[in-house]
Amino acid sequence: MTEPARSVPPPTARRPFRGALVVLALVVLVGAGFLAARQHFGKPMAGRVEPAAVAGSIGGPFTLVDQDGRTVTDASFRGKYMLIYFGFTYCPDVCPTSLARNTDALRLLGPPAADRIVPILISVDAERDTPEKMKQYVEAFDPRLVGLTGSAEQIAKAAEAYRVFYGKVPAAADAPPNSYLVDHSAFTYLMGPDGSFLRFFRHGLTPEEVAAELRDVVR
Ligand code: NI
Repeated sequence: MTEPARSVPPPTARRPFRGALVVLALVVLVGAGFLAARQHFGKPMAGRVEPAAVAGSIGGPFTLVDQDGRTVTDASFRGKYMLIYFGFTYCPDVCPTSLARNTDALRLLGPPAADRIVPILISVDAERDTPEKMKQYVEAFDPRLVGLTGSAEQIAKAAEAYRVFYGKVPAAADAPPNSYLVDHSAFTYLMGPDGSFLRFFRHGLTPEEVAAELRDVVR
């Protein structure tokens, strides 16, 4: 049954209706911001592919530049396990937390297994993460950490191989130049001595949890 009386709101109802639209738009904006923030903290958004779902296709060839300016490829690490994290040196909290977790896990694991694992940071910020910048960062962080960067194309190819999502977050209009953030997925990948995918570790795991898993896998 149709109710024609309701289809045309009385003039007095129009202003609140417009107000409701503004509120709705604000809710959508805040929600989008919240989701973007969640994304950086490694909690997968709806529709994001979990590494477990694509484990067989994680990894592959990459060509990047290390912190000493040398060109390296995935093959440069054959015979070693790679503990790979994608991030950027200007990251205020998530990257340092994940990287510290990873190097702490290696400390807990100890030799000889830990000696077979190379912790690696692959930059998703080609613009600011030069090899020089990477060198400063990894040396301050942990002498074992290898810092890989490259051209935007080289980085995009590596990220694609590892199913890593990243994207520049536009800085506020009044922010200092070049102070942007890069949103990125925050998984750590363990790759075997033959380059094949073995495990992934979520951002929220503790050093103890990661060390326990490494102990299971690395011989
Ligand atoms: Ni980060």
